[in-house]
Amino acid sequence: MTLAPRKLFVTTALPYANGAFHIGHIMEYIQADVWVRFQRMRGHTVHFVCADDAHGAPIMIAADKVGKTPQEFVAGIAAGRRTYLDGFAIAFDHWHSTDSPENVELSQSIYRALRAEGLIDVREIEQFYDPVKGMFLPDRYIKGECPVCAAKDQYGDSCESCGAVYSATELRNPFSALSGAAPELRRSEHYFFRLSDPRCVAFLQDWTRQSDRRGEARLQPEVLAKAQEWLGGPEGGKLADWDISRDAPYFGIEIPDAPGKYFYVWLDAPVGYLASLKAYCNKSGLDFEALVADPEVEQFHFIGKDIIYFHVLFWPAMLHFAGRKTPERVNVHGFINVSGEKMSKSRGTGISPLRYLELGLDPDWLRYYLAAKLNSKVEDVDFNPDDFIARINSDLVGKLVNIASRCSNFLTRRFDGKLGATDTAALATFAGSWSGPDALAELYERRDSGKVVREVMQYADAVNQYVDARKPWEIAKDPAREGELQMVCSTAMTAFRDLVLLLSPIIPGLTERALAQFGAAERGWAAIGSPLPPGHQVAPYQHLTTRVEAKSIDALFDMPASAKAAPGTAPKAAATTPAPRPTVSIDDFAALDLRVALVSAAEAVAESRKLIRLTLDVGALGTRTVFSGIRSAYEPEQLVGRHVILVANLAPRKMKFGVSEGMVLSAGSDDPAQGNGIYLLEPGAGAKPGMKVS
Ligand code: 2FM
Ligand code: ZN
Repeated sequence: MTLAPRKLFVTTALPYANGAFHIGHIMEYIQADVWVRFQRMRGHTVHFVCADDAHGAPIMIAADKVGKTPQEFVAGIAAGRRTYLDGFAIAFDHWHSTDSPENVELSQSIYRALRAEGLIDVREIEQFYDPVKGMFLPDRYIKGECPVCAAKDQYGDSCESCGAVYSATELRNPFSALSGAAPELRRSEHYFFRLSDPRCVAFLQDWTRQSDRRGEARLQPEVLAKAQEWLGGPEGGKLADWDISRDAPYFGIEIPDAPGKYFYVWLDAPVGYLASLKAYCNKSGLDFEALVADPEVEQFHFIGKDIIYFHVLFWPAMLHFAGRKTPERVNVHGFINVSGEKMSKSRGTGISPLRYLELGLDPDWLRYYLAAKLNSKVEDVDFNPDDFIARINSDLVGKLVNIASRCSNFLTRRFDGKLGATDTAALATFAGSWSGPDALAELYERRDSGKVVREVMQYADAVNQYVDARKPWEIAKDPAREGELQMVCSTAMTAFRDLVLLLSPIIPGLTERALAQFGAAERGWAAIGSPLPPGHQVAPYQHLTTRVEAKSIDALFDMPASAKAAPGTAPKAAATTPAPRPTVSIDDFAALDLRVALVSAAEAVAESRKLIRLTLDVGALGTRTVFSGIRSAYEPEQLVGRHVILVANLAPRKMKFGVSEGMVLSAGSDDPAQGNGIYLLEPGAGAKPGMKVS
């Protein structure tokens, strides 16, 4: 069947440039990457881009804390991205930044178009001001109770519990997260996108309910239900205007004709999708404006369930009323939990993707496992270590690779690596064991990768049953059955080539190794089921992937019980409620030489899963190396530029990896209810390396 070629523009959510990727990011990238690879295999053109979401007050404040400009800060984060993307084989065409000329130009031009449509209002509003810090408080730095569901400790812009979006002044019992002070209301002029305008409401009522050009609903049912709730049902009337400006000082894009006013980060973040595409077009000689205006181009966003509001209300309305095309579909996934435990958006889970790669674990394992768990619903995915090991060892090793490892070498040892005739009856039996390439393509299309995996494994089961029944190792003992041996192995290997092609969007590394050995040049979907001629040359079998060892998966996790007294950090109390220690004299305390130190370099200790080697600038005391057991809580790149408190006169301690010259102080608890976290102590702003702590 020849397919009409499609032109697809695909994005994943732009991650905030304030930290390393966690497993939640990687899951989203894998889901989108599987879809993109599938579309490319079908012969469609895909432009797949992402970028760092660089702007906003939190990044500005974080940069300031480590004595960097926001630009330097985000550049440091961006420099770390490639390791992860290459490591997990995420095939983005381009990685950009929202702090870019393309984004300034596009955000401002979209804003001008909205203003020309009469959809921008300027109003004076009352806004929270931190009297201790002397600044207007960004929403993220005001906390309180959600005005909709009353969940406690919610941020000032949206509720992580019920998903509602509101303005900070609606929070109940607000407090400043920077100083703890009760914020004061002060007046300031703000810019609004008039979402409550009947034109916007009518447009969104319609847009959210439409189907895409293939007949699939633009929004998943649970997403549409949320959108309807926010829109206020068919009568509408619930949408409030959206405050899109922030006062200086702010790290963002200036609002045209509004000195001292900047776009709120969520205004320019999704425009970053277009900015990244534009930069990609510039580098590859494509006409960006023609591409985004092309009615044939379908725009797809992969996002998590926490940012639905921005993507199904603000973003399509912004695009539409700025005279641009709107997304074809928004694909929403749930969160990833680890062994049932929820992930924190900022700290991720106990699994570090970087550690996964450093341990040399096969990226295809994680891709396969997550693909097997994902579907088209907005459901959370649970990473369970035992399930992971069982799934990889049973499916990828026990079913898939097992076919090649049992059959391939007979062909190379006995038949010069040449395929013979295939057993057509067996191939027909295999074909009856699964739903076939067209149905599977539809499952891929609908992101039902869990079902894809189940179907392909049914096919693999049928092939293994055939090999078990025909026993090539027995046939090989009888020289009179040479022809039969070649046919059985050729049949199994022809099916193996199909199986690998069917899974290739999910396990691209294993696919490449297998198809290279198999001498199969064709990688497209059309090759599935096409016979390979007798005489086709196969190379000797080489290992394709190994079994997962339980101990390497153990090494991936934080081990709360063993996190006690990690070398280089102050020992944590052993009991859940630590007993108070006996009184010490002021002289005892003064015997400690506590100093402010600046982390000038930090790297993970390859041989240890707990330790980070810190190089500390201690002012007049020079440079110190300290091995600190904080790996479970921090990525090395988060630490550089940060100030810590050093016990400078602790006797040096010789360790396997070198000498640790002191200890950095951290807080922590062994009470699982408190999260078993490790929290480095930090002096207030302005403290300099070498200063005494007393
Ligand atoms: O929630 C987040 O992590 C945001 N940085 C996502 C932005 S997606 C897009 F709009 F840029
Ligand atoms: Zn809520």
